[in-house]
Amino acid sequence: MWPYPKVIAHRGGGTLAPENTIAAMQCGLDYGFHAVEFDVMLSKDGIPVLMHDPVFGRTVSGVGGVVTTLASDLLQMDAGSWFAERFAGECVPSYEEIFRFCQLHGIWMNVEIKPVPGYEEETGRTVARVSKELLAFGGNLPLFSSFSFAALISAKEEAPDIPRGFLIDQIEAGWLKALQELDAVALHTNQKYLSAAMAAEIKAAGYGLLCYTVNTPERATEISSWGVDAFCTDRIDLIPANF
Ligand code: G3P
Ligand code: MG
Repeated sequence: MWPYPKVIAHRGGGTLAPENTIAAMQCGLDYGFHAVEFDVMLSKDGIPVLMHDPVFGRTVSGVGGVVTTLASDLLQMDAGSWFAERFAGECVPSYEEIFRFCQLHGIWMNVEIKPVPGYEEETGRTVARVSKELLAFGGNLPLFSSFSFAALISAKEEAPDIPRGFLIDQIEAGWLKALQELDAVALHTNQKYLSAAMAAEIKAAGYGLLCYTVNTPERATEISSWGVDAFCTDRIDLIPANF
């Protein structure tokens, strides 16, 4: 039985707010979402921040990248203007800031550990350590996920009690062994490539099944009928939290 929410606001507020910002989390909340997915990577000085792309240019302007920039500089970068002028000044948040915001508002977190290539172990270990520190006085456990097996192994070593889901874009042979080695609770996969037969196989193996990114109610209904437990959506305006 899947113990987590079924519908998850992707990157905070889907397509309705600048991804991976406090404004995005607030937008999700405004639409009644108490479940969120976001992406975390490390700054030059090893501070986890919310960011999807390793290089600047899309959600923050300028040239350069996250691993070569200090957190003190990243946290002042405008991550809102690219989306709409009214979000100007919405900064790159630290993982700690978002974690506290989510705990305060009762938002369940799917923390996608998104290492820059070459920083897999360090990112997994650091996100797990920071999470453990933030949870020292209680709070709801997040669900970690990552496309990086190495990052999740490091997270497991550092914080074995924080559950893990393995992200696989297109499911290939070896998925079960990977989930077993990670001691994972779920497989997270691209809804585009999932079949009913594959979904049944994953469920029969006893794992949770989470899909990204489901943006129509019709597709959400279809994959739910296959046994999919949960999905991320960009269209929090079309698919309600209680779908
Ligand atoms: O965690 C699911 C999904 O967010 C993975 O893809 O590129 O949107 O981070 P991406
Ligand atoms: Mg993601």
